Amino acid sequence: MTMLAELDVVLLSRIQFALTIMFHYLFPPLTIGMGVVIVYLEGMFLRTRDPLYEEAARFWTKIFAVNFAIGVATGIVMEFEFGTNWATYSRFVGDVFGSALAAEGIFAFFLESGFLAVLVFGWDKVSQGFHFFAALMVSLGSIFSSIWITVANSWQQTPAGHEIVPMLRDGEPWVINGEVIRRAEITDFWAMVFNPSTVHRLVHVWLGCFILGAAFVMSISAWYLLKNRHREFAERSFTGALLLATISSLAILVSGHKQAQNVYETQPAKLAAFEAHFQTGKGDLSLFGIPDADEETVHMNLAIPGGLGLLLFGDSEKEVIGLDKFRKEDRPPVALSYYSYHLMIAIGGFFIFATLLACWLRIRGRLFEHRWLLWVFVAAVVPAFLANEAGWVAAEVGRQPWIVYPPFEKSEEGTPQLNDNGQFIYDETQGLRTTEAVSQFISAGQVMGSIIMFAAIYMLLFVIWVYVLHQKITHGPEPVDPARSKIASGGAMEAATSWQQHRESLTNTQE
Ligand code: HEM
Repeated sequence: MTMLAELDVVLLSRIQFALTIMFHYLFPPLTIGMGVVIVYLEGMFLRTRDPLYEEAARFWTKIFAVNFAIGVATGIVMEFEFGTNWATYSRFVGDVFGSALAAEGIFAFFLESGFLAVLVFGWDKVSQGFHFFAALMVSLGSIFSSIWITVANSWQQTPAGHEIVPMLRDGEPWVINGEVIRRAEITDFWAMVFNPSTVHRLVHVWLGCFILGAAFVMSISAWYLLKNRHREFAERSFTGALLLATISSLAILVSGHKQAQNVYETQPAKLAAFEAHFQTGKGDLSLFGIPDADEETVHMNLAIPGGLGLLLFGDSEKEVIGLDKFRKEDRPPVALSYYSYHLMIAIGGFFIFATLLACWLRIRGRLFEHRWLLWVFVAAVVPAFLANEAGWVAAEVGRQPWIVYPPFEKSEEGTPQLNDNGQFIYDETQGLRTTEAVSQFISAGQVMGSIIMFAAIYMLLFVIWVYVLHQKITHGPEPVDPARSKIASGGAMEAATSWQQHRESLTNTQE
């Protein structure tokens, strides 16, 4: 009975954390990606002095601010959960997370939120050059804040630069229920920061953010184009975002490939779960299938023979470590790891195809005639959200059953030690199992109660977010003053025409 209650607390706490972090993660990638688009538009305004760029930047800044506010509000919740639900984990990682999160607050959050005020309210109060600088600082601030939290996450995946020490109480090791409480103490700050997966993960996370931010801007712009509203504004926003999305989609394929190689080196059980590769041997690349962890097989498997070995080592015949090299209790859940990983990659493929096609049509000047493709881009923001969420699900579920990943036991010569069944042995003293990481004194009922409360509040927040976005999108950007347009390269006739078109499109909307 007690065992069941403990299990429930672990499972419920995991569900609660997944719920809150997945909701939170709708917003930061959006602001990081949109920040880059705003910098681009403000930069284009400074270069060309065309007020349409300025108006576009103004419009996206308003939406940026809404996303930023909800991102901050939902992010704070998780820091409390570390204390309430994950106290043992917090004690273990406190030294590492404390410094990383403090760095985030000092270097990134203040930068971002300080300059945000200038970005949102400073349009007619500061010079155009300084406003561009504020946009740059907000964008950099949001990128910096992702650095520190990603460092913390990467450390728990591939810990480095620390040693495990007992926690002391009155000079004696602190013991709870017969267990000595351990914690990681930083011995080399930069080795902790640049642990083996930080750089790979950061690059990948940023590219995912850029894709989402760009997809969001393209979705709203495509909608305006389909409704024949704010045409010029929408075409420019779409083109800038398309450029970002195309470069990022191609780059994420390369970054993902490098990351998969790194995962194989540092967490081979995770990669085996991603690919549902049960038996060590030639590595086939499963494109689609239904993994069955009990039967240790993939039903209806559509696979490229030797494809996994080819991608990992450039050799299709080379042996790839499978899940059989790990004790059952050390294996991650296969189905969820496999599906989330494959969903992310399928969406990555979709973005490469869709953005390249759109670029080709844009260069030929025919993109905005293809209404079906514009509809595809209206909808594409959903898969962009999904890929970011699925990527994290894969990375975090694939890390199980560990919350802080332990190294393998090694012989004096440094080769991994295997048990009698030829399986890897983790050095458990250096890591922490998820089941051991929860707080000892919370009940399943308390966690369940807070899940219901969070679900209700988040549902409300979501409705408010959609409502505010809907208001802002319906209102659209403000019309551009033709006198200012004239100064820009287009000349008086063009300015007057675009002003007229804009008035007409506003009238159409009102009708
Ligand atoms: C195109 C092919 C792609 C490949 C080969 C790929 C590969 C990977 C791999 C191997 C991981 C796990 C890393 C780990 O557990 O340490 C991962 C995680 C992740 N992926 Fe992808 N990915 C691709 C596309 C995408 C796309 C399109 C997005 C988002 C738009 C995305 C977003 C993420 C995120 C947010 C994570 C979790 C953070 C991390 O561990 O990097 N990925 N990806």
